[in-house]
Amino acid sequence: MSHQQTPHYQIVCKELVFPPTSESVQVVQAPKNLLSEPLAKNHVRIKILYGCLNYADALQCGGKYQEKMNAPFIPGKELAGIVCDVNGKGDRFKVGDCVIMLAEKDGWQSFIDLPLLYPAIIKVPKSVDLKKAASLLVAYSTSHVALTHPRHGALTQHDGKSKRSTVLVLGASGGVGLAAVQIAKSLGAIVIAACSSDEKCKICTEKGQADFVVNYSSNKKDWFKQVLEFTKGKGCDIIYDPVGGDLALQSLKCIAWGGSLIVIGFASSIQQIPANILLVKNVRATGCYWGSYMKHEPQVIQQSMATLFEMLVKKQIDPYVSECYPIESVAKAMNDMLERKTVGRVLLSFPQQENIRPSKL
Ligand SMILES: NC(=O)c1ccc[n+]([C@@H]2O[C@H](COP(=O)([O-])OP(=O)(O)OC[C@H]3O[C@@H](n4cnc5c(N)ncnc54)[C@H](OP(=O)(O)O)[C@@H]3O)[C@@H](O)[C@H]2O)c1
Repeated sequence: MSHQQTPHYQIVCKELVFPPTSESVQVVQAPKNLLSEPLAKNHVRIKILYGCLNYADALQCGGKYQEKMNAPFIPGKELAGIVCDVNGKGDRFKVGDCVIMLAEKDGWQSFIDLPLLYPAIIKVPKSVDLKKAASLLVAYSTSHVALTHPRHGALTQHDGKSKRSTVLVLGASGGVGLAAVQIAKSLGAIVIAACSSDEKCKICTEKGQADFVVNYSSNKKDWFKQVLEFTKGKGCDIIYDPVGGDLALQSLKCIAWGGSLIVIGFASSIQQIPANILLVKNVRATGCYWGSYMKHEPQVIQQSMATLFEMLVKKQIDPYVSECYPIESVAKAMNDMLERKTVGRVLLSFPQQENIRPSKL
């Protein structure tokens, strides 16, 4: 098959349906194959091998996300692939380079053209597994900024002398949850991972090296007492919360004096935070939203991504890709995520071509 005949697939959300169905989110042939068009000057063309699925993608295709899109649209922001064409001067990219990137829009399709100077593309060394790199950007930079930026958690590298911070992560086996566990551990914190099943708890120990785990489903009423026992009654300095709802409210019973509640998401539901608890314990509640950082302070995310990439190369973090669905199963992947069946990071795999060299997979 010649390069020009290589099919160009797109994942398209045709209709906002929640939860998404195989009719509402489909794989189609692009109306115009990008490979039949010349690459514009000062652009790079990338063959996409993986899209990374985030909870927000599933919500967005159901019309339930805070940033609304009108159907039809191509979902997906997080991508990994191989440079297949370069038109312009400079040595930033060459054909065959493996890259990960964030697309502003129209992410999940076989090919994408971006300006050579587009900032949100990172070259992946051959020694790094492209699947792991593909799953790094949104979940890990959200967790990294939430835990380390002074506006939020301000967790610094433990120096071995001062008190080690204790971090409680809710929904800890999920995408952002496991990222938070790994990042907090790599910074020397004591990490308590909280999940809804023993299997998920085990993943946090095995893939995140969590110090303690707690199953909040088997002990719905007072799981937080276990957390207080782990912390010898003091409670946790930071609570990282992508779940919300009753669980988040209960978790305030085991926050330390002067601690921080970091609101990340509402996989369960949106809770009302009782101001009296914030007052008596001198607690701060802070939201950390990746999307609005990209809009208002993109340099914070870019700096975080650079740091995370170094951490990945040094094996200080190790993204756990639990599933890689073929693109035709995108609706199933979204439903599995919404139904709490997935753990760690979830990828979508685009058809690969013989004439394109994948990195170590
Ligand atoms: N602030 C940001 O910038 C940012 C960035 C990325 C994601 N998020 C948000 O963070 C949340 C998690 O995203 P994710 O990508 O990590 O998703 P995920 O991989 O599906 O993880 C979500 C976790 O939430 C827990 N959960 C508790 N109640 C749930 C419910 N009713 N339905 C579904 N899950 C439930 C599940 O763990 P258990 O079964 O163990 O309870 C699940 O592992 C989402 O709300 C997402 O929008 C925010």
